[in-house]
Amino acid sequence: MHKPVLLQEVMSILAPKDNEIYVDATFGAGGYSRKILQLADSKVYAIDRDKSVHTFFDELNSAYPQKLELFTGKFSKMKELLAQSNINYVDGVIFDIGVSSMQLADGERGFSFMHDGPLDMRMNQSSDYINAETFVNTLGEKEIADTIYKYSGERCSRRIAKAIVNARQKKTIKSTLELANIIRSVIPRGKIDAATRTFQAIRIWVNDELGELEKGLKAASEILNTGGRLIVVSFHSLEDRIVKNYFNQLCGKNSPIPTPSEFTFINKKVIRPSREETQTNPRARSAKLRAIIKL
Ligand SMILES: C[S@@+](CC[C@H](N)C(=O)[O-])C[C@H]1O[C@@H](n2cnc3c(N)ncnc32)[C@H](O)[C@@H]1O
Repeated sequence: MHKPVLLQEVMSILAPKDNEIYVDATFGAGGYSRKILQLADSKVYAIDRDKSVHTFFDELNSAYPQKLELFTGKFSKMKELLAQSNINYVDGVIFDIGVSSMQLADGERGFSFMHDGPLDMRMNQSSDYINAETFVNTLGEKEIADTIYKYSGERCSRRIAKAIVNARQKKTIKSTLELANIIRSVIPRGKIDAATRTFQAIRIWVNDELGELEKGLKAASEILNTGGRLIVVSFHSLEDRIVKNYFNQLCGKNSPIPTPSEFTFINKKVIRPSREETQTNPRARSAKLRAIIKL
């Protein structure tokens, strides 16, 4: 089961109130939505591009009838999704970026080299997105190397891309373990598994995660009421940089000409999980929380 990260910190910033409307842009197992509904008689519109979260939705929905709605889709499209329920403005939007523990644990989804499974990695399996198998078996060597480097900073990206292209000439690369072993065969052992960074990069590419984040933040900032809060928990530096730069822009920080801004920071410094939390939930280790409020 997925343990929500920075739950107390997110809730103390969101400070849910009766009759307010919130968007949980990354529903997952519904950890944040559940807490909001426990804290206030509010309404939550949840979004997830992964259909399999329906079971978690059904359970929460029966505990809080009429208080929760789920849209299956991308959060970059949140305006269009909310419009289906005639919602144009809300009082808070939360993002908890990345993959869930359920997605990682299910070998059939292909997100993790800890389990053997098909090279899929699509969060939405019915989407038009190209899966990881097509990525490794059809893209050019340079494009593979550049993508791995761009989305993970992997210094051996060229060597890995070459090994992938050599391997696929003999036989189509079909499984997570095949791919992990190809990567491991060409890069030195280190503290973390050699395949970690490449898997992260391919997953980001397959799901256009950074493009989604940019569009999702923009959409969220446009639907907030005055006093509305935008809260983001991210898990690696590429995501955090996008959040930080966009929030700086919205809050008028670093602007050459001082102009009245529409938003201000709730927390000046990024919020990190406590030692206690990282000890009980290793997934929280790299989490960073940033939040702004609409003036
Ligand atoms: C880290 S989990 C969220 C966990 C959740 N906060 C909880 O407490 O259970 C991220 C979820 O967001 C979904 N997701 C990631 N990117 C998305 C996007 N662009 N649009 C919609 N859902 C997305 C994933 O499918 C996954 O279920």
